[in-house]
Amino acid sequence: MNAGAHIDPPIGLLAELTHRCPLHCPYCSNPVELDRRSVELSTDEWRRVFSEAAELGVLQVHLSGGEPTARADLVDLVAHCAAAGLYTNLITSGVGVKAGRLEELADAGLDHVQISFEGVHEAPADRIAGLDGAHRAKLALAEEVVRLGLPLTVNAVIHRANIDLVGDMVRFAVGLGARRVEIAHAQYYGWALRNRNALMPTIAQVERALATVEDLRESLKGRIVIDAVVPDYYAKRPKPCVGGWGRRSLNVTPSGKVLPCHAAETIPGLTFDNVREKPLAEIWSGGQAFNAFRGTDWMPEPCRSCDRREIDFGGCRCQALAIAGDAAATDPACEKSDQHERLRAMAGTAADSHVGEYDYRRFL
Ligand code: SF4
Ligand code: FES
Repeated sequence: MNAGAHIDPPIGLLAELTHRCPLHCPYCSNPVELDRRSVELSTDEWRRVFSEAAELGVLQVHLSGGEPTARADLVDLVAHCAAAGLYTNLITSGVGVKAGRLEELADAGLDHVQISFEGVHEAPADRIAGLDGAHRAKLALAEEVVRLGLPLTVNAVIHRANIDLVGDMVRFAVGLGARRVEIAHAQYYGWALRNRNALMPTIAQVERALATVEDLRESLKGRIVIDAVVPDYYAKRPKPCVGGWGRRSLNVTPSGKVLPCHAAETIPGLTFDNVREKPLAEIWSGGQAFNAFRGTDWMPEPCRSCDRREIDFGGCRCQALAIAGDAAATDPACEKSDQHERLRAMAGTAADSHVGEYDYRRFL
């Protein structure tokens, strides 16, 4: 980033309200070390964060976790966001939401709900979530979302055990009345990396799934929006992770650390400011972590001279670190990376392993 260069404000803020969660998903992309309840930001601190975000220019707040409904003050926080003119999206597992709570959230101004689903059938869905009754609870909440007239997105988490049912997942989302379905291939950050062998689909599965999704996009046009990308390990080009580092969004962790992306804490040498110590605007424009990979000046070849450098911003820094051992390297998902073949080989080895057991996440 050039010194003195203009920095646009972020559009979105991911508020990780808590790491507490009733589910035990093996593909959890939260860090291996979770924040405990005792260090979580207070209601007043979150209110201040949201006010500062609105002043900074943020338009959308994604209320996430863990399970954000585990916060007793969620209705207050939604009301505060609404009063500040922020669009609120609740990202929930749908489990443990008490009767009447959603209506209170809607009355407080909640704009949108995203519920993750692990499958279309109860037993296998509950097995991967690690909790009996989870699927039924999600279904009940989805029905309530639609009944209240809130827009619903289904986040369909895809991995080796359910990728062959991707078409059923999309039709299931239509049946629920969702306006959007995200085909969210498991990503191997945080806890999920431990389960890569158990979760990785084969290339043949991925190709079939992509073809199915393309057919459904056509046949369901106008009924549901399908968001789907090629999973990283099988892609030719990387995703513009977080829309470009320090460019469109920021994350605030339960204890108030401000991160350029969900997994940024895995990158050594970055310093993360805390909303308890500095205003959000100062962190966004001047924070060491935000400026480390902002823009294109930091890029090595082949990104530096590539005509896609302002399209995908070199892909994902955390994946570059995890696979290439260097956060400033080209994302190995890119076929121009010298690590690309190695990434493919890793995917193949993982997919061919017959590990059936998951290492479940536990919030201790
Ligand atoms: Fe993107 Fe870099 Fe690959 Fe070009 S070389 S497509 S900028 S990751
Ligand atoms: Fe950190 Fe992609 S998850 S840059």
